[in-house]
Amino acid sequence: MNEQICQVRPATPSDSHAVWNVRFNLDVAATALTNELVPFDKHDEWFQKKYFGEVKNYCWVLVCDQEVCGYCRCDVDASLAYVVSIALNPNWHGQGLGKKLLLEVLVQLPSGLKLKAEVKNNNVVSVNLFKAHGFIQIETTPDTFVLTRQL
Ligand SMILES: CC(C)(COP(=O)(O)OP(=O)(O)OC[C@H]1O[C@@H](n2cnc3c(N)ncnc32)[C@H](O)[C@@H]1OP(=O)(O)O)[C@@H](O)C(=O)NCCC(=O)NCCS
Repeated sequence: MNEQICQVRPATPSDSHAVWNVRFNLDVAATALTNELVPFDKHDEWFQKKYFGEVKNYCWVLVCDQEVCGYCRCDVDASLAYVVSIALNPNWHGQGLGKKLLLEVLVQLPSGLKLKAEVKNNNVVSVNLFKAHGFIQIETTPDTFVLTRQL
């Protein structure tokens, strides 16, 4: 990884398309819990409301070589836990960047938050990434692991 050219920053409204591109990349979409393909217009409406509306949710992006190549979202759920969802464009996988993004997000989130991640149980890289950063597996469903961490 080249530390000089990769940065984590809060998402802006204009990152919507780049985030959509990463989320609906075929390889990334295959790891998601739902396989609905959301058209960009619908995604954009959701993204603007979710991260720039009234409810406090968080989204950061990872920028490498001036390209938004990943995101980490933390969306509050009904139990007031923040659900963490992280993804990188596959071109950037396996270079320590997912770890860098998650670490920076954990530092920047306000303390006191309860974090939650739900990951397909065959997604070994992701499960291990969360476990390596203090998440504890609390629940299993037939297809997923649920992990939590208190900040
Ligand atoms: C999960 C994801 C963000 C990880 O990002 P990444 O940049 O590929 O991962 P990193 O290079 O930072 O590696 C993180 C850890 O996984 C390990 N790892 C990475 N790729 C691996 C692979 N193919 N096989 C085994 N271990 C692997 C690394 O060695 C590292 O562990 P370490 O800290 O003990 O060395 C990325 O793979 C991704 O976007 N996946 C698709 C979306 C997804 O699954 N999201 C999770 C659901 S919320």
